[in-house]
Amino acid sequence: MADNKLSIEDMAVFCKKKGLVFPSGEIYGGLAGFFDFGPNCVEINNNIKMEWWKFHVQEREDIVGIDGSIITNPKVWEASGHVASFTDVYVKCRKCKKPNKIDKNEIKKARCECGGEYEVIGNLNLMFKTNVGPVEGSTAYLRPETAQLIFADFKLVAENSRLKLPFGIAQIGKAFRNEISPRDFLFRTREFEMMEIEYFVHPKNINKCPFIKEVLNHKMNVLSAESQEKNKSPVKITIKQALDKKIIKTEWHAYWLAVEHKWFINLGANSDNFRIRQHTKNELSHYALDTWDLEYNFPFGWKELEGIANRTDFDLQQHIKHSKKDLSFFDQETNEKVVPHVVAEPSLGVGRAFLVFMFDAYNDDKKRGNIVLKLDPKLAPVKAGIFPLISKPELIKIAREIYDKLKMIYNINYDKSGSIGRRYARADEIGTPFCITVDFDSLKNKSVTIRDRDTTKQVRVKTAGLKDILRKLIDAEIKFKDLK
Ligand code: GAP
Repeated sequence: MADNKLSIEDMAVFCKKKGLVFPSGEIYGGLAGFFDFGPNCVEINNNIKMEWWKFHVQEREDIVGIDGSIITNPKVWEASGHVASFTDVYVKCRKCKKPNKIDKNEIKKARCECGGEYEVIGNLNLMFKTNVGPVEGSTAYLRPETAQLIFADFKLVAENSRLKLPFGIAQIGKAFRNEISPRDFLFRTREFEMMEIEYFVHPKNINKCPFIKEVLNHKMNVLSAESQEKNKSPVKITIKQALDKKIIKTEWHAYWLAVEHKWFINLGANSDNFRIRQHTKNELSHYALDTWDLEYNFPFGWKELEGIANRTDFDLQQHIKHSKKDLSFFDQETNEKVVPHVVAEPSLGVGRAFLVFMFDAYNDDKKRGNIVLKLDPKLAPVKAGIFPLISKPELIKIAREIYDKLKMIYNINYDKSGSIGRRYARADEIGTPFCITVDFDSLKNKSVTIRDRDTTKQVRVKTAGLKDILRKLIDAEIKFKDLK
């Protein structure tokens, strides 16, 4: 966190004040676990998803994307084990009566925040049920993860895309979980968006990752299941050390943990706020052989940001068994039909990613007297503010011309109301990285000033080259300090 005094409640207040996120249907009192997203948050979330897709799908030759439906044949969820096992232990505090969920291994151990003992009410399946069509009893489920249609559609997608093992299938979309106690703003909601990849590997190659060299020197804070059992602290080690010491069991798992960490760092998140933590045996989901979470140091403690599970061939085998369809895949290299293993399933919620970028970007700048949201320009909702210095027709005309040109490429903002200082402050608070001001010199020599959000420095540039400069700044091809 940039400002460790900021609580999750403070962040929720800030997001509401700036019109980013607010309780869903608030005029009717909202609904616990559901949120609506305002214009600038839609832009930030779209940018997060776009950057995720670019990095994980577009820039890679081994991953393709799909978009499965939210409601599907309920047999999918029977086969996957979700109908039987996607449950939480539902408890109620004997003292304050607050409901909560706990892990199976916490029964009789966990206590409520108020210190009270928990009474176990039972197991609650987290899937939302609905009816399809007019017939009562035609039960279907809102998907609790996007992953399952990747498995059910696996063969169609793999063959049509002419994929060769190893390969991945990615998906971004909404998921729904009837959480017992939604909490911590966007951290645990009942409706959220997920970005997931199932990465398939030949069963003989579950420890042979051709890309491992790219990440061997990458350093991370690592907390293994064994360390947790012995009450030890995380250690900062390289991926190579984690593999050599057999802390992380497979190259593939190590590769994906490092790649996911790097994705956040490349987009401006603070590396020190991350660690990876292995699930203890009691925590593992019904489908997982081994799971590591990428955790973030949220104001309420180290918590799961992204889960990266080794699901083996569990899901494909389950769908083969239940659908009686052959989902094996012909591997051209070995000339054999195999049921591939999912050695890593990077699975990340958009809402949690949003929180991470917001916490790491949030700066309460006392000198300026306003919040400065130092979001990476790629994530910033508005890429540039265009301001006529004062409301004179000749300045407005040029500012409007610049705005009309740039808006064809980026989400930018034209603002002529209030003092220039007030307009800079408004831009800072939503993370606008650059502000372009049209002043009287602009009339004389066809130039404008660009202001850098993070340093407040200003540089004068020719109006003709503005589009190109802005693109280079956003794409990090040049740094602001290099502008002459
Ligand atoms: N397919 C694997 C899977 O669903 P998960 O650990 O249950 O794994 C993956 O969820 C990620 O989805 C989490 O790491 C988190 O980022 C996000 N997520 C899960 N439940 C959530 C909730 N109730 N609210 C917001 N995000 C959630």
